[in-house]
Amino acid sequence: MNYTNILLEKAEHIAQVTINRPDQLNALNKATIFELSTCLTDLDNDPEIRAVILTGSGGKAFVAGADIKEFASFGTEDGKKLAAEGQLLLFDRIESMTTPVIAAVNGFALGGGLELAMACHIRIASTNAKMGLPEVSLGVIPGYGGTQRLAQLVGKGKAMEMITTAGMMTAEEAEKWGLVNHVVEGEELISLAQKIASRISRNSPNAIGAAIKAVNAGFEYDKDGYAKEIEEFGNCFGTPEFVEGTTAFLEKRKASF
Ligand code: COA
Repeated sequence: MNYTNILLEKAEHIAQVTINRPDQLNALNKATIFELSTCLTDLDNDPEIRAVILTGSGGKAFVAGADIKEFASFGTEDGKKLAAEGQLLLFDRIESMTTPVIAAVNGFALGGGLELAMACHIRIASTNAKMGLPEVSLGVIPGYGGTQRLAQLVGKGKAMEMITTAGMMTAEEAEKWGLVNHVVEGEELISLAQKIASRISRNSPNAIGAAIKAVNAGFEYDKDGYAKEIEEFGNCFGTPEFVEGTTAFLEKRKASF
């Protein structure tokens, strides 16, 4: 598929997806959400790809939010549909991907942009990054999972403050609060993401997918994370990757997955 709002590069089992609307600070319009959904689903189904890096083009923004120009005239039902479709198509889909997605936050990550980063499995940021959920300043609330995932990542108290004040966090504050794992200078951001992706790519893809499912289960109200862990743990034993991983250890060599 040819994309108009995103760029896709692949090398050595790692894909980089760059949201490419820099003149609109990479705001997420409907077309971009659809392209991201299609592209990430394809990458998740591609056995050659073992980790994905998601970033924004231009030096200023990761994603400055959902496209305000697109939803400004919406009514109640349109609003519900926007949130429901977006969650289903993109945000929940990323979270449930069995190929880890690393958000490389290279500037503003606001509203839907922070929600996008929070749906990813790992977040790193450049020193110039600014993160926040400013929706209440527009008379709306986060609709792409932000009220849930921010509280999961930074705790309910800090999430309440960020959401109700519509304030922004610096990259350093975000690291302190556990919203991002690492902060580096802008020019080092992609190389750090590649380093993490490369470490992921050396491990068992099946086991990584199983681990993601088990971790996620603990955050779903209708699932028992411990039971899911037992199920996924057991399933690993029946796989060729388990045989290779344990055999390699016993033969004192590196496993080749
Ligand atoms: N939706 C649609 N367009 C957006 C956008 C968004 N979320 N964020 C930025 N843009 C557009 C601007 O409208 C402008 O487009 P224009 O040149 O056609 O007018 C362009 O991106 C550049 O943004 P601008 O506001 O001029 O840059 P700035 O440096 O002055 O400010 C921000 C940067 C991020 C502080 C500011 O753009 C902003 O507050 N954006 C909205 C953030 C937000 O509320 N997000 C949550 C949405 S739910």
